[in-house]
Amino acid sequence: MSGRLQGKVALVTGGARGIGLSIAKALAAADARVAVVDILADTAQAAAAELSGTGNQGFSCNVADPEAVQGALSSIEENVGPVDILINNAGITRDNLLMRMKNEDFDEVIAVNLKGAFNFTRAAARGMMKRRDGVIINIASVVGLIGNPGQTNYAASKAGLIGMTKSVARELASRGVRCNAVAPGFISTPMTDALSEDQKIALKGRIPLGTLGTPDDVASAVMFLVGPDARYITGQVLSVDGGMAM
Ligand code: NAI
Repeated sequence: MSGRLQGKVALVTGGARGIGLSIAKALAAADARVAVVDILADTAQAAAAELSGTGNQGFSCNVADPEAVQGALSSIEENVGPVDILINNAGITRDNLLMRMKNEDFDEVIAVNLKGAFNFTRAAARGMMKRRDGVIINIASVVGLIGNPGQTNYAASKAGLIGMTKSVARELASRGVRCNAVAPGFISTPMTDALSEDQKIALKGRIPLGTLGTPDDVASAVMFLVGPDARYITGQVLSVDGGMAM
């Protein structure tokens, strides 16, 4: 992978930990300069310092705030460079059954997961279109494809991201910009580590490949889509879910 993205600048939202951090590490390992953007300011800076190579930097920003996004993008373009690769990964859950879901639980999840991706896409696309070069990846979810009880808000945000991916892909294709989505299934994180053995067995029973994925499995799919091997691929959803959605 080393050297494959030399000279490129990548921006990863929600890059301070979890899947976003794995993606940031993979991009840096391929020699991209990486801007780690997260609402957790200190963790974003610590994460950027952990990446290989030089020129990586952490930035504090709430993706749901359009003005903060514009400010962060200007600062990134000034300090790291014009953004060639945008990974919209920041996401939250506020799970509850439909009848118990509060308005603010719905609105907050849409604001971060869907509007946040819109905010960064609109901000970064301007430069990409001018340079006639750019790649955007939206981190969706299997839940956006097949739904999940207790996640009406989250599933709607992720299905929305898939629609947005296809519209942006169609709109920007003639300007040299590609846009794809990656839809992870159940990925092993501290959250899933905390499940009981019985819960893990039940979960694995829903996955044809019989095991949870890792953040690196998601990062591998992202690395394929951002690189030259995917130059003829846009508007697609690549599932990384052990076969859950097929
Ligand atoms: P995580 O909670 O470990 O990491 C999310 C990151 O986003 C955190 O660093 C958090 O501080 C940041 N963030 C949250 N709200 C933000 C905001 N308003 N502005 C800027 N940054 C913000 O989550 P994880 O598991 O790494 O998930 C990453 C993405 O992958 C999310 O979009 C999630 O929906 C998606 N995903 C995760 C799956 C899983 O099993 N973990 C499965 C399918 C999709």
